[in-house]
Amino acid sequence: MRVIIKDNYEEMSKAAAQLVKNRILNKNNLILGLATGSSPIGLYKELIKMCEKKEISFKKMKTFNLDEYYELNPDHPQSYRYFMNINLFDYIDINKKETYVPDGLAKDVDKFCSDYEKKIKSEDGIDLQVIGIGGDGHIGFNEPGTSLASRTHLVILDEQTIKDNARFFNSIDEVPKSAITMGVGTVLDTKEILLVANGIKKAKIVAQALEGPITSMVTCSAIQLHPKVTVFLDKEAASELKRLSYYNFVEKQLANMNISL
Ligand code: F6R
Repeated sequence: MRVIIKDNYEEMSKAAAQLVKNRILNKNNLILGLATGSSPIGLYKELIKMCEKKEISFKKMKTFNLDEYYELNPDHPQSYRYFMNINLFDYIDINKKETYVPDGLAKDVDKFCSDYEKKIKSEDGIDLQVIGIGGDGHIGFNEPGTSLASRTHLVILDEQTIKDNARFFNSIDEVPKSAITMGVGTVLDTKEILLVANGIKKAKIVAQALEGPITSMVTCSAIQLHPKVTVFLDKEAASELKRLSYYNFVEKQLANMNISL
């Protein structure tokens, strides 16, 4: 696992975008896994700029999103499909038909989930998966206690999550009570993982996930089992890491050896 610590959110986002760019330049039909949330927005902005400057193209690429609220129309401003459109897809040269976000309106959810897994497999898997980390250590919607072997599935949201989300909707009754998410096992099967986290609010949970025990109580800790992970943090999110100076030392040595992302 490489842990790259930058001074601020902007620098963190630029460095993460550089890794994505390198992978796209290596494979123009890269299969990219995506996340929503505030953490990767800066990374997506950088990718948009790179695409506008014609440094990269998404034309041959396919994307798979981690999760989506269940029973929420994709046109709803709180849906993850809507988020992806306004934060990335609308501004890059991707074929939107090849952007896959779990179907929040799926009638037969079990079938949808197994088809989503099959679709990922049929593309020979996800080359690079972008993830964020929730305040309780979740990845996707895999809340504490979710099996580390889980596959794409329907999740009943925690009552607290429903209450927390109420501010984004007209009333608490409108807040989705469930979601479809890739499982922890689905994320572990990807060929490479890129985690972005910023802000002091993430400091403790980042340290637990990267340096604590591997446990279903912090589903992000499962990435310790993955052979190819790069973590991009700002200084605040990195501030509770025990091995902070070692991570910085490693990056200096790699730079001296001209080993980039
Ligand atoms: C979103 C997702 C979530 C977020 C996590 C962090 O698709 O999978 O696990 O990555 O909740 O959210 P932010 O980035 O808003 O702190």
